[in-house]
Amino acid sequence: MNLCVCILAAGQGKRMYSRLPKVLHRIAGKPLVGHVLDAAAVLTDSLPVVIYGHGGGQLKDYYADRSVVWIEQREQLGTGHALQQALPALPAEALILILYGDVPLLSVETLRKLLDAAASGFSLLTVRLADPSGYGRIIRDQDGHIARIVEHKDATSAELTINEVNTGIMAVQGRLLHQWLPRLGNQNAQGEYYLTDCVEMAVESGLQIIGVETQDPTEVTGVNNRLQLAALERAYQRAEAERLMSGGVTLMDPARLDVRGKLSCGQDVLIDINAVFIGEVSLGDGVVIGPNCVITSSTLEAGVEVFANTVIDNAQIGRGARIGPFARIRPETILGDDVHIGNFVEIKKSEIRSGSKVNHLSYVGDADIGRAVNVGAGTITCNYDGGHKHKTVIEDDVFIGSDTQLVAPVTVGRGATIGAGTTVTENVEPGRLVISRVRQKSIAGWQRPRKPQNAQ
Ligand code: UD1
Ligand code: CA
Repeated sequence: MNLCVCILAAGQGKRMYSRLPKVLHRIAGKPLVGHVLDAAAVLTDSLPVVIYGHGGGQLKDYYADRSVVWIEQREQLGTGHALQQALPALPAEALILILYGDVPLLSVETLRKLLDAAASGFSLLTVRLADPSGYGRIIRDQDGHIARIVEHKDATSAELTINEVNTGIMAVQGRLLHQWLPRLGNQNAQGEYYLTDCVEMAVESGLQIIGVETQDPTEVTGVNNRLQLAALERAYQRAEAERLMSGGVTLMDPARLDVRGKLSCGQDVLIDINAVFIGEVSLGDGVVIGPNCVITSSTLEAGVEVFANTVIDNAQIGRGARIGPFARIRPETILGDDVHIGNFVEIKKSEIRSGSKVNHLSYVGDADIGRAVNVGAGTITCNYDGGHKHKTVIEDDVFIGSDTQLVAPVTVGRGATIGAGTTVTENVEPGRLVISRVRQKSIAGWQRPRKPQNAQ
């Protein structure tokens, strides 16, 4: 049977106190509803149906590039009402998987179990909670079959003691939803149209509902406020840390790691505390990441060592390179094997080939640097004239003395030497020594001016 995923995301999220719709708040750098959409995409190619309400414009703008069937629910009159709005978009001949846009951590594995159980026509995901208050309780008959769901506000004191609750996640044949949804009423404590009333309709029609119980409350936890958002973020990061450690990565402290994207690691990778990985990051065998590093969308090949407080963004780092401490590698940088980048060095949109070193206090932007080049402390590529960016080319085996400015566009030929303190404004031929600094004077018997006596 075809599968169609329907995501409820119309809730306002009042307790977030935010201008942003609740489902656009992020876990691991991705909106809550993005996690749900991604899980849906693993299960089926068919377009997800998303029911939106408050702040729907922002939601649709955010996902403008994604194929989604958007359904507006103008007033939030309950989960049943939300589904009623979506009904024309829900195929009768498909199985409908109902998910919540603010429940981000559901595993695909659990969803598959729920879908398998829906062969009967209707399956429901439940969980047992130590504190079930607020949730709809699962009422079972003498045979242990699900008979109905009673909302907390409608429940008797006996029913309130039940700790098996409705997660809200369910799989139902479209045909059945088309029969039941138009018949929902709102005669209950909240005056809402309850989707959960479909359970009783199913039982009345002789259908057995299969309950699937998850053992992991975190995966069915929704976000209503920023405390819950933070708690789920930590749960997500803990799971990510466990995944990495189980795969052979050493984490100096699994509680101080943040992965906001996809981190893949080779063998014997070591990650020190407070590392943040954003986007797709790949770390080769034996890579060591020092404390307090932020690495975004980059590839670090085997044996790379990154020292404390280094920021790397959209770069490719060759085998055995050593970077930092306190280095900043900016987008479109390609570093060859065994390149050394030291403290307080910024590299932007540059290629630096194998064995070259930029060890101290330098800015290298829009540059192409050859092999075995030594760039001295305090070297600056003057790449910007206020209007345009220009390129600096430094060929193999060049030695650049400290405190050099390279005014681009400029090329320093192979094997040339630039004396310390030089401002290079013209191309340098291979093998030359170039110095532009003023010759040193030496004045004997120089009297330094003195302060007058009694002056402060
Ligand atoms: C619902 C269930 C309850 C279950 C609980 C799990 C019903 C009647 N009750 O409770 O049994 O234990 O979820 O969290 O279904 N939403 C809309 N439009 C609406 C109302 C809700 O899109 O008009 C969305 C919300 O954005 C949210 C989800 O549906 O993602 C659940 O809504 P919420 O108000 O949190 O749950 P309840 O209806 O109280
Ligand atoms: Ca509600």
